[in-house]
Amino acid sequence: MKYTTPAGDTVIDRQRVVGQPTTRIDGPLKVTGHAPYAYERHDVAANQAYGYIVPSAIAKGRVRSMDLAEAKAQPGVITILTTTEVDELPLGMGHTVPLFGGSEIRFYHQALALVVAETFEQARAAAKLVRVDYERTPGNHDFHALAPDAPLVEGSDGPDVSKVGDFEAAYASAPVTIDVTYETPHESHAMMEPHASIAAWEGEKLTIWTSNQMIAWSKQAVAEMLDLDPANVRLDSPFLGGGFGAKLFVRVDAVVAALAAKKAGRPVKVMLDRPLVFNNTTHRSATIQRLRFGAERDGRLTAISHECTSGNLAGQEGENGVAQTRLLYAGANRYTAQRIARLDLPEANAMRAPGETAGLMALEGAMDELAEKLGMDPVELRIVNDTQVDPETPNRPYSSRMMVECLRRGAEAFGWDMRNTTPGGMREGRWLIGHGMAVGFRNSVQMKSAARVRLSGNGKLTVETDMTDIGTGSYTILAQTAAEMLGLPLEDVTVTLGDSDMPASCGSGGQWGAQNSTSGVYAACVKLREDIAERFAMDPTTAEFADGEIRAGGESCKLTEATASGEIVAEDSVEYDELSQKYQQSTFAGHFVEIAVDAYTGETYVRRMLAACAAGRILNPISARSQVIGAMTMGVGGALTEELAVDTRFGFFVNHDLAGYEVPVHADIPHQEVIFLDELDAIASPMKAKGVGELGLCGVGAAVANALYNATGVRVREYPLTLDKYL
Ligand code: MOS
Repeated sequence: MKYTTPAGDTVIDRQRVVGQPTTRIDGPLKVTGHAPYAYERHDVAANQAYGYIVPSAIAKGRVRSMDLAEAKAQPGVITILTTTEVDELPLGMGHTVPLFGGSEIRFYHQALALVVAETFEQARAAAKLVRVDYERTPGNHDFHALAPDAPLVEGSDGPDVSKVGDFEAAYASAPVTIDVTYETPHESHAMMEPHASIAAWEGEKLTIWTSNQMIAWSKQAVAEMLDLDPANVRLDSPFLGGGFGAKLFVRVDAVVAALAAKKAGRPVKVMLDRPLVFNNTTHRSATIQRLRFGAERDGRLTAISHECTSGNLAGQEGENGVAQTRLLYAGANRYTAQRIARLDLPEANAMRAPGETAGLMALEGAMDELAEKLGMDPVELRIVNDTQVDPETPNRPYSSRMMVECLRRGAEAFGWDMRNTTPGGMREGRWLIGHGMAVGFRNSVQMKSAARVRLSGNGKLTVETDMTDIGTGSYTILAQTAAEMLGLPLEDVTVTLGDSDMPASCGSGGQWGAQNSTSGVYAACVKLREDIAERFAMDPTTAEFADGEIRAGGESCKLTEATASGEIVAEDSVEYDELSQKYQQSTFAGHFVEIAVDAYTGETYVRRMLAACAAGRILNPISARSQVIGAMTMGVGGALTEELAVDTRFGFFVNHDLAGYEVPVHADIPHQEVIFLDELDAIASPMKAKGVGELGLCGVGAAVANALYNATGVRVREYPLTLDKYL
């Protein structure tokens, strides 16, 4: 289906099932431990052997030789795969350096060998006995040392600089200006389930049971890296214990499992232990962000500049902190630029709303500083700078934009007017109390997405697509969509996900999963409805599907009559026409935070959080709320605790486990409230939905920081806001 924005209501607008608060249909499987996660799939292939990775102990250099003799002699050892026995693998999608092969070492904990044994313990014990002779070369591991000389990011259209009007002149003549620099640290996804894969060969055919967000991309990447016909590669990932961007692309577990399974002649399973999740996979790069604003005394921005420097090992992909600044606020004179430092650290890549998360931590802090300088309410400052068009391309309107409504609704529900505007001015006993807010902004992305639906003889429907459920609720919203379209109860719909043998979906990433994968199912269901209507000589455009029946022109027929002679199968995809490309598609939130700071110890407690979100139709208020409160929790981590500490001498992340890398726990998270504004966006998707998952994170860090400033009167511009910085 080529989606063209409809004039009026569609089946989805009935909202009998879609839009209704629905608990996860996969919930019971998960809480009873029956959901099959990658490493636990003991039943998918017989005779599985265990692989354990030998990681590099240096960050840069070369493997001179490897002594395997002692390791090979250990009990249970089947084989050892070494990096020097295979050529450097070509880059797969999303990779900037090879995952495996050759003797060059580019980052600490790069995989150098896989020891395969009968048990996990045997493989691990033997792996410790592999002796590697290294030739070490010095590297650049210190982001702060390299950042000042970092060159501009080179995009496909040249350097990543955007200029509108004359920033310098407008800034020089503005009555009120600020010039501030914010820093965010290197961060890790820290999802619960580590990367894991089981690989098995049947002749030329390779199957990998894994934990991956983007099945179609990753199948293609495996085929390219291992030089296989994509038709001979199958990936299966029905459940994930989180991904957060770390599983958008195939990582080394899948590749060494496949190579070792071939070598061992039997299935091999590999899990990255926690230090390798931190050092061998990807992370979010640190940033240094300079913001300069010029404003009129009434708060209207006349000059906006945002420059962001981040780092990476190779490639041109940095942490795009300026992404939202090009779109969020009006202002005639603008300058934004991205620079990237070459670092001998593990690859940086997408993590938890890449770009906007770190960018808004700086932009929305700077806006708070400007509001204070203007003597203006921070909410009002945002509102006077609203725009309904892309401010860099003024003939490009937003498909829908309810930033102002989010702020007004959020402020009212939060009780923003009771805030003390004097920093450090509110106290309850030993606690300093502060309130802060920030705007949330994240783009909504249209992606092609396909699905197949099968209506069986007993009237039950099966949905098949390679879409993934990374903990987000995909199973449930896809079942809701199909049930709505065919007029069936939710219990009559079965959803199968994550298998590359099924039609290719949009996958899970960039908060594009929900609206595109449901739209793919919508498209397949439209086709199925047409097929059924034709069988009864009914007009598919006016036919109604309800209660297991199709009704038109005063007649009704049971769907089971249509399937009496066998199941009916329909497959289609949603694709978007150029019309929708004429619109900027984004989602908005107002984030509000109340914080308490111990006046004596500096300990920080977030006491209350509220998010008012506008993200098109909310397909399921329960799973959408779960997405947003989970994201708000990540925002607290980003603001207060999360930081990868770099050993700048040896080039690795020191705190490479969940004891040293602190993410918030339940006890850190207070009352959270989420308000969804009524918004239908027919331009964004046939579901009239946009993305929502990452929106819940974007802006939260700044709201926490602004609340901390309001509580203490100390402005910290270096995240995370640990107490040593404001005591
Ligand atoms: Mo997201 S960081 O695009 O999985």
